[in-house]
Amino acid sequence: MHTVLSTLFTGPRRKRPEQILAIDLGSRTTKAVHLHRRGEGFNLSRFALLDAPIFDKAMSADMLGEHLKAVSQALDAKTRQVSLTTGVNDAIVRHLEVPRMPLDDMRMVLKHNSRNYLQQELSNHVFDCHLLPSPTHETPKAGTPMARQRVLAAGGKQELIDEYTAGAKSAGLVAEHIVPGLVGPVNAFEMAMPDAFLNEVVALIDIGFRSASICLLQQGELILSRVVNLGGDRLTQAVAESLEISYAEAEGIKMGMPQEVQAALESVLLPLGRELRASIDFFEHQQDCPVAAAYLTGGTTRSEFLVQLLQQELAVETHTWNPTGFLKVDLPPQQAAELEHVAPQLAVAIGAGIAAL
Ligand SMILES: Nc1ncnc2c1ncn2[C@@H]1O[C@H](COP(=O)(O)OP(=O)(O)OP(=O)(O)O)[C@@H](O)[C@H]1O
Ligand SMILES: [Mg+2]
Repeated sequence: MHTVLSTLFTGPRRKRPEQILAIDLGSRTTKAVHLHRRGEGFNLSRFALLDAPIFDKAMSADMLGEHLKAVSQALDAKTRQVSLTTGVNDAIVRHLEVPRMPLDDMRMVLKHNSRNYLQQELSNHVFDCHLLPSPTHETPKAGTPMARQRVLAAGGKQELIDEYTAGAKSAGLVAEHIVPGLVGPVNAFEMAMPDAFLNEVVALIDIGFRSASICLLQQGELILSRVVNLGGDRLTQAVAESLEISYAEAEGIKMGMPQEVQAALESVLLPLGRELRASIDFFEHQQDCPVAAAYLTGGTTRSEFLVQLLQQELAVETHTWNPTGFLKVDLPPQQAAELEHVAPQLAVAIGAGIAAL
């Protein structure tokens, strides 16, 4: 079995399975898709949304195993191969320059020199690297002492990887890939919006339950990413506090009549928008290049009202997009009818699936 913490969004492919169950283990909702390779394209044959088992502490391998069993039953899938995502706070994704060396050596060098390369002591971590093309005018001859390689590196705790692997195994599944949740939307965007991916400078923003992530892409390259710990949970809490009602009631109002509680929602969306805008400003200053648009995904962006409030603060053109747009839909009729509403929430799972196929 070959389990890697993988950032394979354009990388050299390993052995490709014909189909994969991709499971995004979000902090509130588990999103899963069953994808098949079909010629040059991909089919979506089933999706599932399940409540995550617990929200306040890390899952044990046993609990994860039980949960994954329930997910694979919900997908009614016969395949055992899965691609799992880590939470956006559970993996480090960074651009680095490292001396040229074989990929396996690079993984070990990062593991043993995290202070040098990542400016922090990351003991018991495992790493994966994705080679990036070097700008041609800067490419020194291979073999010269100065030869360096630009990589996108991902690191995660060995313990977490072991737990995911064991959890999958106890559910009768095989963890083929473990993908940082952060790169999920990037993979899906590359497939669903190839022109914008290759030619534009964009911000991909995913707003979930606990956190929001932003990835800044310049002509297909992930330049900068950041996580802000604000999301749907804080929005619901703000509504509950302002009306002095239960969390469950507040969740209903947030979804059903958000315009009635605009001020409470803004008390969270404005700081969130400001944080995200600060990352865009930082990027624009560093790269000396404007961001053309922000593309949104995540459960919270299923609300048009919330998206509009956020857009005012982001001060950049904002789009929602369909991460399932490039897939041939082969769903049961009931699911086919729901897909349009659920799609923004599936971006990370789809990106994790594509990394494996
Ligand atoms: N129609 C809607 N309007 C507003 N909020 C919604 C809607 N549908 C779902 N949400 C919110 O989306 C959030 C869940 O989104 P998502 O599944 O992307 O989060 P997650 O992946 O579990 O969390 P995280 O990424 O932070 O770990 C919940 O807070 C929920 O209230
Ligand atoms: Mg999420």
